[in-house]
Amino acid sequence: MKVTVFSQISIDGKLTLGNGGSSKGLFQRFNDEDMRFIHKFRGEVDAIMVGRNTIVTDDPQLTNRYEAERNPIRIIPTTSLDFPVSAKVLSSPEHTIIATTESARDHHMVDQIRAQGKEVVFVGADKVDFQLLFPLLEARGINHIMVEGGGQLNWQVFNLDLVDEIILMQLPIIIGGSDTTTLTDGEGYQDIALTKSFKLHTFEERSNYNLLHFTRELELQRAH
Ligand SMILES: NC(=O)c1ccc[n+]([C@@H]2O[C@H](COP(=O)([O-])OP(=O)(O)OC[C@H]3O[C@@H](n4cnc5c(N)ncnc54)[C@H](OP(=O)(O)O)[C@@H]3O)[C@@H](O)[C@H]2O)c1
Repeated sequence: MKVTVFSQISIDGKLTLGNGGSSKGLFQRFNDEDMRFIHKFRGEVDAIMVGRNTIVTDDPQLTNRYEAERNPIRIIPTTSLDFPVSAKVLSSPEHTIIATTESARDHHMVDQIRAQGKEVVFVGADKVDFQLLFPLLEARGINHIMVEGGGQLNWQVFNLDLVDEIILMQLPIIIGGSDTTTLTDGEGYQDIALTKSFKLHTFEERSNYNLLHFTRELELQRAH
């Protein structure tokens, strides 16, 4: 399965304005054409995944609002199932899969989510195991997934070496803030040998932002 990390970031790699803030502030810098680009990309993938915190802070719909009938399946990993049933990913009609753990089998939200017509899958004991989840999704015909953050989720997919490409819509701004979510958070690496290498595939200067497309260096090495 192809995995694309897709994100709107600042020059300093921040995903939001302030710790725990919604990323909607950043979106003030994007025009209709930019939004169309994001939504059309959603139309090209089979699934889109964001972490539970993003559901809580942004309450995104995660649909393709520019093209009919081209919506990705929405996938939300969570251990706590701590989000409201009014969340748009549950209350809008498009397909949603909540991926949670065995420890959440008896959680009251499981029935509520199912009652909203959405799916719940149990993958992993204490955390959702992406190395099990991704093949499971692939077996269901999901061949390309877009991971849209936030930083905690992104860290895990990078750390597990699951990412094939990164597409960044980089706004030419500095946000700052040591607690502000970045493209990847998590524990990070202290050893250069452990860091993940990507190669700049294309760069495009657009009117509001820079479009950066990176591919996994390992993939290139394998191809030669
Ligand atoms: N600019 C952008 O493109 C963009 C895009 C998306 C988000 N954002 C911003 O990013 C911020 C949120 O990012 P964040 O790093 O705090 O959180 P996040 O990555 O959105 O969500 C983290 C949560 O997802 C769940 N999760 C992730 N991996 C899991 C796993 N393997 N198993 C079980 N659950 C898992 C956990 O929920 P539980 O606690 O339930 O276990 C975890 O606490 C928000 O401010 C949002 O606005 C920006």
